[in-house]
Amino acid sequence: MCCVRIRFLHTEAFRLSAIYAAIFALSVILLGGLALVITERAFRDQVVQFSQADIAAIQNGYDVEGLGEAREVVQQSMAGPGVSDFFLLQKDGRLVAGNLPVMPPRTGVFSLDKGGHEILGVGKMLAPGVYAWSGSDLARALIARQEILQAMIWLFAVALLLAVTGGALVSRSFLRRSDAMARACRAIMDGDLKARIPMRGTQDELDRLAGTINEMLDRIVALMGNLHQVTNDIAHDLRTPVSQLRQGLERAQEGPQSEHAQALGAAIAKTDDILVLFAAMLRIAEIEGGKRRGAFVPVALGALLGRLYELFGPVAEAAGHSLAVDIRHDVEVRGDPALLTQLLSNLIENAILHTPSGTHITMSLAVLDSRPALTVADDGPGVPANEHEKLFQRLYRREASRTHPGHGLGLSIAQAIAELHGAQIGVIPGSPGLAIRVLFSAARTPSDS
Ligand SMILES: Nc1ncnc2c1ncn2[C@@H]1O[C@H](COP(=O)(O)OP(=O)(O)OP(=O)(O)O)[C@@H](O)[C@H]1O
Ligand SMILES: [Mg+2]
Repeated sequence: MCCVRIRFLHTEAFRLSAIYAAIFALSVILLGGLALVITERAFRDQVVQFSQADIAAIQNGYDVEGLGEAREVVQQSMAGPGVSDFFLLQKDGRLVAGNLPVMPPRTGVFSLDKGGHEILGVGKMLAPGVYAWSGSDLARALIARQEILQAMIWLFAVALLLAVTGGALVSRSFLRRSDAMARACRAIMDGDLKARIPMRGTQDELDRLAGTINEMLDRIVALMGNLHQVTNDIAHDLRTPVSQLRQGLERAQEGPQSEHAQALGAAIAKTDDILVLFAAMLRIAEIEGGKRRGAFVPVALGALLGRLYELFGPVAEAAGHSLAVDIRHDVEVRGDPALLTQLLSNLIENAILHTPSGTHITMSLAVLDSRPALTVADDGPGVPANEHEKLFQRLYRREASRTHPGHGLGLSIAQAIAELHGAQIGVIPGSPGLAIRVLFSAARTPSDS
């Protein structure tokens, strides 16, 4: 708790709050200063205006009935609730009426010091030698200024307190959440791969960040799982061929020298075989890793089938088969053209290799329920329905196919590629031979793009 209290001072949230508080304080000081200047100026203008009105009344009295009336006006203004505080009517340097000492003749706005107070007023020559002055004490302006200043100080203090408290609260909540993130990351680093950052469901920036980190962790864990799986698979699946290689070499070692050359040739062939198997398994792992999804582009499936037809037509013919292509709708999917080519090649190669000569092979492209569907079908012996799922298992080969070269990985690779594209792959039940269909999820005709 004490650590949280001290640490919040170093958080970005608190730093930001402190900056905002400082900007706010500066604004209050500037605004306060401006308010003081404006009020003081307005007050002085008002004092001058009132003095001018008083002087006009004295002038009027003087103009109508002479000095006596002017004195009368001054005395009445001093006695009554007059607006100005001070008056002076003097003639030839002698006081006629008023509560100010005689002054040297001067006209216009004046300011004088009276017992430490500033008196602001206006002077006027009523007639040659006759002067009238009226003015007010500015002490009232001083009081107003102090009141404004006090209000400003309060405002400043309250704002500062609010900013600091708010900053501290925000920082503490921020700290709590960043601590939770750090704890989750540390738990994962310590081996608890299931740990995740708690989310509040508020959809704020920290929640979104936590969500993204959690997604990233899910992906890392999935990749680690994939790596683990691949390591296990390789260790498991390579054991048999490597043991066979070893047995062959042992037999050769025990056998006559004359057979060594033949045994060496067989060992090299077996090693090549293992390397091919190894490469195929790594390829599946790479596809399952999903890295290639980032390089997806629109692929026109019709054009792809056309190219494959050109490529495999002669091969099928050489094997005594016939290859046909049937494009009902040309559609585009987002994908990796090289991988999609490999998927279809694996299916066509199987149809050529695992069927007797004279088999008809058809590649077709259609749209089923607005989903692009690629099918490779043959009218060969087919595969019993109970084995359909097993065909996609790694290293699975039917007894009948063991005489042909291969590792039982072609359909596993095809499945990994289909899954990478979000497509489903499977045997169409009830077909004459074997028909395998790849069903994509979204359709786009080339003209759409
Ligand atoms: N068109 C087909 N007709 C009959 N059986 C087939 C056909 N396609 C595949 N199979 C069977 O499915 C098995 C698995 O096929 P898969 O492509 O995975 O491996 P493979 O062809 O034996 O070896 P490779 O790793 O070289 O592809 C084959 O061994 C074969 O028994
Ligand atoms: Mg194959």
